[in-house]
Amino acid sequence: MTDDGTDRLLVYGAYGYTGRLIVEAAAERGFDPIAAGRDPARTRGVATAHDVPARSFKVRGAESHLGGVDAVLNCAGPFSETADAMVDACLATGTDYLDITGELPVFERIRRRDSDAQREGVTLLPGVGFDVVPTDCLAAHLHDRLPEADHLSLALEAEGGVSPGTLKTVLTGLGDGGAIRRDGVLRHERVAARTRVVDFGDGLRRAVSIPWGDVSTAYHTTGIPDIEVYLSAPSSARAGMKLASYLGGGLDSEAVQRGLSWLIDRYVDGPDTETRTSGEARVWGEARTGDTRVVSRIRTPETYHFTVESALLVAEKVLADAPIGYQTPASAFGPELVLELEGVERVDLEAGEVVEHASSPGATVPAE
Ligand SMILES: NC(=O)c1ccc[n+]([C@@H]2O[C@H](COP(=O)([O-])OP(=O)(O)OC[C@H]3O[C@@H](n4cnc5c(N)ncnc54)[C@H](OP(=O)(O)O)[C@@H]3O)[C@@H](O)[C@H]2O)c1
Repeated sequence: MTDDGTDRLLVYGAYGYTGRLIVEAAAERGFDPIAAGRDPARTRGVATAHDVPARSFKVRGAESHLGGVDAVLNCAGPFSETADAMVDACLATGTDYLDITGELPVFERIRRRDSDAQREGVTLLPGVGFDVVPTDCLAAHLHDRLPEADHLSLALEAEGGVSPGTLKTVLTGLGDGGAIRRDGVLRHERVAARTRVVDFGDGLRRAVSIPWGDVSTAYHTTGIPDIEVYLSAPSSARAGMKLASYLGGGLDSEAVQRGLSWLIDRYVDGPDTETRTSGEARVWGEARTGDTRVVSRIRTPETYHFTVESALLVAEKVLADAPIGYQTPASAFGPELVLELEGVERVDLEAGEVVEHASSPGATVPAE
């Protein structure tokens, strides 16, 4: 509890691109967050700028720094390097854990801590940013529309740039290759091994399969056994993804990763304020069984803007009351959660309105 009786949120990774935006918005909204990170000077810098307390510590051994904290919002990615230790610390101290990961293996590992979390009375809720709030809520909504569905496809299309942290996270994950879910089991395959034609609401787009977090989370949320996630990207990026997946082993080498991380730190800035304000993202989803099929779409503000808003909305809810154990955004708060965020719209398509078809990947798409 803080002096004024409210529950306390600690934002770890507070001086990163996204962490800084979250601390700023949290301070403005009266959360009185604790800004935390591994570098003492940079952590103090953010805390001072927003007049909030600072704590500096490494993720390993974090439990001795969580006194008086009710929930941790971990913004320090790649989460493959920070989530396990922070989850351990949260379980040891009875602190709720949230993060903004989109990394499939991280979701799978946190899911396996469910019984520990149940025993300790802790909520573990990774993926409270653009990954995976809109897609997870759409998955739950489609499942409500077609409860007997045995196949779920989700697709994303986003405008705007990416931050250094996101690029590094993608880079770190490339060596793992792609993944889909079949009969409830994760199957590994190449990134971009599958192509689909998707209508996000303004014409047909070609999208390729990616190992998005929903391959893990949507199964937990809906129980649908077959799941694929697609990304609509310009043709140059699609070719790059295919190339990267063939080079997977090479990209995974530590020396290559270190060199690319260095380049990213120097040459990549996150999206500026104007891009964050004006951009938007689109999510499409289809649930089906046999010939029966339902399709819905969601439009959201730009992904980093969305992440700040959704992370704080979920943090507020978890601080108030949340189911214990491992949760996804929609398993904890239902499919309508995403509609509580400003600027989000959801549309359900009726059978006659669906133009593209699951079995017609060659459907006409605009020339590129
Ligand atoms: N869910 C979403 O839609 C969404 C949206 C935005 C970002 N993200 C993800 O969030 C992560 C952060 O993104 P960003 O744009 O804020 O990146 P960023 O600017 O590079 O910031 C990353 C932060 O994490 C810290 N960090 C990294 N590894 C660490 C470790 N092993 N121990 C302690 N701290 C560590 C960094 O501290 P140092 O500088 O000291 O390394 C820095 O404070 C990325 O994984 C990104 O993919 C997800």
